[in-house]
Amino acid sequence: MRKFNVAVVGATGAVGEELFRVLKDYNFPINNLVPLASARSAGSKVEYDGKEITVLELTETCFEENEVDIAFFSAGGSVSEKFAKFAVEAGAVVIDNTSHFRMEPNVPLVVPEVNPEDIANWKETGIIANPNCSTIQMVLALKPLDDLYGIKRVDVSTYQAVSGAGKTGMEELVKQMQAFFAFQLDDAEKNAFAHQIALNVIPQIDVAQPNGFTKEEMKMVKETQKILHKDVQVAATCVRVPVLRSHSESITVTFEDDVDVDVAEIKDALEKFENVEVIDDLENNAYPMPIISTDTDITYCGRIRKDVYAHNVVHFFNVADQVRVGAATNSVRIALKWIELGE
Ligand code: A2P
Repeated sequence: MRKFNVAVVGATGAVGEELFRVLKDYNFPINNLVPLASARSAGSKVEYDGKEITVLELTETCFEENEVDIAFFSAGGSVSEKFAKFAVEAGAVVIDNTSHFRMEPNVPLVVPEVNPEDIANWKETGIIANPNCSTIQMVLALKPLDDLYGIKRVDVSTYQAVSGAGKTGMEELVKQMQAFFAFQLDDAEKNAFAHQIALNVIPQIDVAQPNGFTKEEMKMVKETQKILHKDVQVAATCVRVPVLRSHSESITVTFEDDVDVDVAEIKDALEKFENVEVIDDLENNAYPMPIISTDTDITYCGRIRKDVYAHNVVHFFNVADQVRVGAATNSVRIALKWIELGE
């Protein structure tokens, strides 16, 4: 089997570090691994498969010099905007974890369990976009339900972990909690989020949009439509919560008017879908929670219940590890599919 030269841009970040673990877990066919970050981190080490590898500085020529075949980008939108083209020019496929290219019409936006066929369009730009973390875990649950009954509308509230703001977000929650126990919370740093996140919830993720939603909320709308190839109506409320690294979502789905929801059928469809599992035994306190999904590659669904009034409406709760399912694992699954489809 062919082996690939793989670059990780943002190798010292939360998603970059996880990518090394996921690449190992999936036994990814690697010839040479090239960790890339800013000049600040060049020369530092990252660990892959028990070995230390030196981080190189991201430059315009590094992809060509290292004969990179696959480049994972996870260093922010501005870095992708500036450097993805150099990876493409060097002949690599770029798998981009930022929002920069997601809505470009000729860039495929892929969750491999949902729309693997879109990967085939990668050649138009050399780029495949990884969706927003909240979108990924939601569409993993929506796809089997859409196949089952046909979805008209989705209303979702998210409970998003601080890992979505990278290592700085995770460190800020930990530091604020330490400050709380030292009776110094008022003096703790507040940089990653607009407000204190410890012992708080913040109903804003990303910047305000003219329509009153946030950019994160509108990402969930537009990306869901692009991935499902359907003008499904989506309304999202995205909330940051003091959880380290798994996102939760409370989802209400409205199906076509003539649908009479059968909860057993819904559970069955979710259970059969790849990388989705159902935990749903309310009487025995069993349901998805962030502590269940963290460090796993599964999207868990539960609390599945038919609406009290409308026969075509179901409510449920889902959780997934934001760093893995919402970023690193989805990227690696895209790359594996890309290889399987014959590049
Ligand atoms: P560095 O550690 O050198 O700053 P996180 O999402 O956890 O905050 O991590 C962001 C990642 O993106 C880090 O690996 C960081 O590297 C990298 N990064 C940020 N800005 C740049 C840049 N201008 N060029 C290359 N890598 C960058």
